[in-house]
Amino acid sequence: MIRTRFTELVGVDHPIVQGGMQWVGRAELVAAVANAGALGMITALTQPTPEDLTQEIARCRELTDKPFGVNLTILPAIKPPPYAEYRQAIIESGVKVVETAGNKPQEHVTEFKKHGIKVLHKCTSVRHALSAERMGVDAISIDGFECAGHPGEDDVPGLILIPIAAEKVKIPMIASGGFADARGLVAALALGADGINMGTRFMCTQESPIHQLVKERIVANDERETELIFRTMRNTSRVARNTVSTKVVAMEKQGATFEQVRELVAGARGKMVYASGDADEGIWSAGQVQGLIHDIPSCAELVSRIVREAETLIRGRLGGMIGDAQREAAE
Ligand SMILES: Cc1cc2nc3c(=O)[nH]c(=O)nc-3n(C[C@H](O)[C@H](O)[C@H](O)COP(=O)(O)O)c2cc1C
Repeated sequence: MIRTRFTELVGVDHPIVQGGMQWVGRAELVAAVANAGALGMITALTQPTPEDLTQEIARCRELTDKPFGVNLTILPAIKPPPYAEYRQAIIESGVKVVETAGNKPQEHVTEFKKHGIKVLHKCTSVRHALSAERMGVDAISIDGFECAGHPGEDDVPGLILIPIAAEKVKIPMIASGGFADARGLVAALALGADGINMGTRFMCTQESPIHQLVKERIVANDERETELIFRTMRNTSRVARNTVSTKVVAMEKQGATFEQVRELVAGARGKMVYASGDADEGIWSAGQVQGLIHDIPSCAELVSRIVREAETLIRGRLGGMIGDAQREAAE
C-alpha cells in the first residue's frame, strides 16, 4: 500500500485518480476504478441534463460501495450548460468528492465546501494552482503539457511543472498528464506529488464505455499520434491525430476562424467515434501517453499492477542504488 496525504484526504486505497472524461466518464468505468481502490470521476456534462446526472450517480452507487467523485468542467461557451443545476444535483446526490476544471471555479468551490464536499481542482499552471488554493480547494490536480484535453497555453511539461508546483502548493497535489504505469507513479511521488491522475490510460481499459476499435487504436498509436487543435484561438486541446484533427490544424494555419472549423470539431461527431469505433469520424481526446499504452486491462488489473510494480521499484531498483557507506569503507 502506498499511503499519501491524498489517499488520507479522500479515503481511497491507492493514490490514483481517473479524471473527468467527456463521453467516457460514465458509471461502469467509475465504479470499476472505485472497486479497484482508486478514485473515479463521473463526468457531469456527459449527462444531457442534471436529472440524468442524478440517475448516473445512483447507477454508479449500484455498482460500487466505494467512494467516487464527479467532475464538473467549466469551459467558456456561447450558451453555457446550467452549471448551478448540475452543481445542485451533485450536492443533493451526497457525493463526497468533486473535481472542478476550467475557468473561475470560485462560486462552485464555495457551494461545494458549504456542503462538506472535498474539492480537487484541476489546472495547468502554478499560478492557477495557487489561486485555487486561495479559493479554499482541498487538493490540486496539475496537468502537464503532455496531457490529453486542455493543456493550457504555457506548454510546460510535467517534469518541470510538477516539482515547481510541489514547491509552492501546500495542500495535497496530484500530478496529471502522461501517466500510465508504475514508473510514472514513482516519478510523480519523487517530484513531490501525492498521487497521479490518468485519463487516456483509463480510457483504454475493459470497462471503459467506448468502442473496442478506439481502444485498439490507442494501443497501436505511439507518442507522436496527437495534435494540438485550437492553438490559434488560445484554447488549445490535445487530441488524437486523425484525418479530422490534421485538417483542423491545417485550416487554422491558414487563418480559419472557429466558425469555419465548427462542423469538423462538433462534439456530436466526437461522440460518434466512441460509438462506431471509426477513429476518423471526429475529434477525440488522447494524450502523448498513448506511446506507453500496450494493452487493454481491467481497471482492477491496471491499478493493482501499477501499485505492485511501484512498490517493487521503490524497494528494489531505487533502494538498491543506495550504497552503504560504512560497508563500502570496510570492504
Ligand atoms: C477522452 C478524454 C476526455 C476528457 N474530457 C475531460 C473533461 O471533460 N473534463 C476535464 O476536466 N478533463 C478532461 N480530460 C482530461 C483528463 O481528465 C486528464 O486530465 C488527462 O487525460 C490527463 O492526461 P493523460 O491522458 O495523459 O492521462 C479528458 C481526457 C480524455 C482522454
